[in-house]
Amino acid sequence: MKDTNLSHSADASTVEEALAADNQGVVDSESATAVALQNTLLTPRFYTTDFDAMDSINVDGIREEWDTLINQMKADPNKGHFKKNEDWDHVDWDGMEPKLRAEFIDFLISSCTAEFSGCVLYKEMKRRGNNKDIVELFQLMARDEARHAGFINDALREAGIAVNLGFLTQNKKYTYFRPKFIYYATYLSEKIGYARYITIYRHLEANPEYRFHPIFKWFREWCNDEFSHGEAFALLMKTDPKLTSTWYNKLWIKFFLTAFCATMYIRDHQRPAFHAALGIDPDEYAHEVFRKTFEISKQVYPLMLDIDHPRWQHTLEALQRANLDLAEAEANGKFFKKIGAKARAGMAFASLYLIPAKTHEVNRVTRLEPAY
Ligand SMILES: [Fe+2]
Ligand SMILES: [Fe+2]
Repeated sequence: MKDTNLSHSADASTVEEALAADNQGVVDSESATAVALQNTLLTPRFYTTDFDAMDSINVDGIREEWDTLINQMKADPNKGHFKKNEDWDHVDWDGMEPKLRAEFIDFLISSCTAEFSGCVLYKEMKRRGNNKDIVELFQLMARDEARHAGFINDALREAGIAVNLGFLTQNKKYTYFRPKFIYYATYLSEKIGYARYITIYRHLEANPEYRFHPIFKWFREWCNDEFSHGEAFALLMKTDPKLTSTWYNKLWIKFFLTAFCATMYIRDHQRPAFHAALGIDPDEYAHEVFRKTFEISKQVYPLMLDIDHPRWQHTLEALQRANLDLAEAEANGKFFKKIGAKARAGMAFASLYLIPAKTHEVNRVTRLEPAY
């Protein structure tokens, strides 16, 4: 039910209120929404899953850690945080260098779509479930993601655009993932999200002259939300030890780790002006984000990728070049070049995947606090 007194998604207590609040004053949303609708290997997708299977999870075996996390999320320390205030400096969109402007808008649209992708999945789980623990968790996470997406839309509106979230819900294609793949993928996307945002936040804290947009000032509280969401998925995986212990599932975990690193690396290298404006070297940044993510993921995954292996960096670069060639061949309709680039990308990915992983014992206690 829409609360008519509600002015902003940041103040909403539920996902429904937050989404209703975001619907106000939508400007030209067509171009941004068209970008958000795209489904490629590199763009954020919407997911659906076996909601009944997820509803049958029993968290009694990890009850103490679960209740602590849920109580933290219910206390809602970030209520009211995700909206513009006196710290929001004026943004000179018209004066922004055109390449930076285009890359930054692309970054905001892609981030907004990713936030909203989480919102849609979590909201659906909350709607379909009967399990009190699960419904409560997913309601809390959907609330956070709706606020995050709403806040990015605030930033986009200043540039005269916005992603039409209602339209996206109805029209974007949904990809089916079994619950176990939802855990692997969503856990990683929440933790990598935390690592990305905190790395940018700390860099700009030390070098404020590179902060070309005020939204980065909000990244600390933002990434703490993502950290909590990742904690929830770590606990969900702990309810079924097979998910992280059989050799077969370990191969899947390694696959998701490799795929996430590769996707992030390729996507970030598509935005050179954005990273230059932030004063960030995308290679160093990627290495740092991977390192933080793996360190955190030790809480539940028994293996991590060896990013210091002599083959890692140059193979990642080869994958990125193959991807550039593929995009160029597709744009120019060059069939054989396209096949060649695809084969090179596949070989590079396989080569990354086959680098021996580092293994370790996973702690019995799962929970961590954001430490970076
Ligand atoms: Fe989020
Ligand atoms: Fe999240």
